[in-house]
Amino acid sequence: MQQKIKDVSNQFEKDIAQVENLNSLEEVRIKYLSKKGLFVKLFEEFKSLPKEEMPKFGSLLNQTKNSVQASIDALRDKLEKSGKEAEKYIDLTLPGKDVDIGSKHILIQTLDEMKSIFKSLGFSVYEGPELESDYNNFEALNFPPDHPARDMQDTFFVTEDFLLRTHTSPVQIRLMKNGKPPFRAIMPGKVYRNEAISAKSYCLFHQVEGLYIDKNVTLAELKGTLIAFVKQFFGNDVKYRFRPSFFPFTEPSAEMDIWWEPKDKPGRWLEILGCGMVDPNVLENVGIDPEEWVGYAFGIGVERNALRKYGIDDIRLFFDNDKRFLTQF
Ligand code: PHE
Repeated sequence: MQQKIKDVSNQFEKDIAQVENLNSLEEVRIKYLSKKGLFVKLFEEFKSLPKEEMPKFGSLLNQTKNSVQASIDALRDKLEKSGKEAEKYIDLTLPGKDVDIGSKHILIQTLDEMKSIFKSLGFSVYEGPELESDYNNFEALNFPPDHPARDMQDTFFVTEDFLLRTHTSPVQIRLMKNGKPPFRAIMPGKVYRNEAISAKSYCLFHQVEGLYIDKNVTLAELKGTLIAFVKQFFGNDVKYRFRPSFFPFTEPSAEMDIWWEPKDKPGRWLEILGCGMVDPNVLENVGIDPEEWVGYAFGIGVERNALRKYGIDDIRLFFDNDKRFLTQF
């Protein structure tokens, strides 16, 4: 019995000397100390010894087992500590993680393209606030109070006199009040309307307003400018038409449509902008003499044009911030 205990103990010394990590240490523990381990076997043999020999071998066996247990515990401690030490160091040879850099939102790209087209046509860029006075958004643009034309645009009122602008046309008023004619500028920005949200409309969208005030500005120039724009934006073969329309701040007024053929669907005319010759009342409201100055204005919907140009079928996609959508452009 004594020899057997010694053999197991010697074997253990050899095994534990080979251990390099917590996994191999666990294998050693199982080999010696588990329910099927070598010590359980020794204890079984011990039970069948004659009574007189039991005390002598019992204490030897217990001592040996305890020292095996102690060696395993000590080594486990050591290995765990050195593992934590290792974590403190950064391995500079590891490959880096991919960093996602953002990309320009497709609407910003579209706006940038529109700006650059109009800049090449001689327009400068001017901006106004999204929180507007009722006066600038409606009254100065020739919408009298209680005029039914106000219902054309469902408004988010903030107070009785202030609102989220429903179009970029109030920026025309700001531009004309802040300077002296002639003016030739576009005014891009966000506008808000209290509309039911669907694939076609959203409570927020972008417009690019345009204003040209000078002497002898004609409707033909307005048409020429807008045709040049749609050709550059959609391509030379774009089909377009002008339709008479109504806006309180322009007279005459028109809307421009382009022919659109979505994939697998019949083609149709789609409205992309409103425009017209600036109403003399508007010029008077900002202190410009309508006998001396004339001009035209237009307002282009940005989302609708991006939908068409890029074949997107739901306006809400622009605002969902879904990376799978945004990274395509
Ligand atoms: N502000 C008009 C709209 O939002 C568009 C427009 C702008 C029409 C300028 C004429 C002149 O519908």
